[in-house]
Amino acid sequence: KKILILNGPNLNLLGRREPTIYGSLTFEEFFESLKKKYADTDLVYFQSNIEGELIDKLHEVGFNFDGVILNAGAYTHTSVAIGDAIKGIETPVVEVHISNVHSREDFRHTSYIAPNAKGVIAGFGLQSYELALESFR
Ligand code: DQA
Repeated sequence: KKILILNGPNLNLLGRREPTIYGSLTFEEFFESLKKKYADTDLVYFQSNIEGELIDKLHEVGFNFDGVILNAGAYTHTSVAIGDAIKGIETPVVEVHISNVHSREDFRHTSYIAPNAKGVIAGFGLQSYELALESFR
C-alpha cells in the first residue's frame, strides 16, 4: 500500500520544539524507524509550513494513494481550505495529533479536518502516526 504522512506547520521543529509536549525525537529519526518496521508499506513523508503546499500535496496523492496520515498542526483548527481539499479527494485521510488536543486550550478542540476524516487519533505521542498506519493495513 502507498501511504503519505503529511505534516503541517512547525512540525519540522519536532525534537526541539516544546519537548515536554512533543518529545525529543526528530520526525526524520522516527520516520526511518517506521519505514523499517513497515517495510511492506510504501511510506512517503512530506512536511510544509505553507497551507497551499499541503493542499497541493493532497491533490497530488488524493486519487492514487491508499491513505494519508495528516497532522495539519495549527491549520487543523483554522483551515477551511484543507478541510475542503480532503472532501474533494478520494484517498481516505486519518487526522493525527501528537498531543491530546482535547486536554489543551479550547481553540485546539475545533478541527476542520475531523468532519472529513476517516478517523482521528490524538494524544499518543509519535505512536499516534503508527496507530493511524495500522488503520490502513
Ligand atoms: C498538534 C496539535 C496542534 O494543536 C498544534 O498546533 C500543533 C501540533 C499535535 O500534533 O499535537 O502544531 O497537531
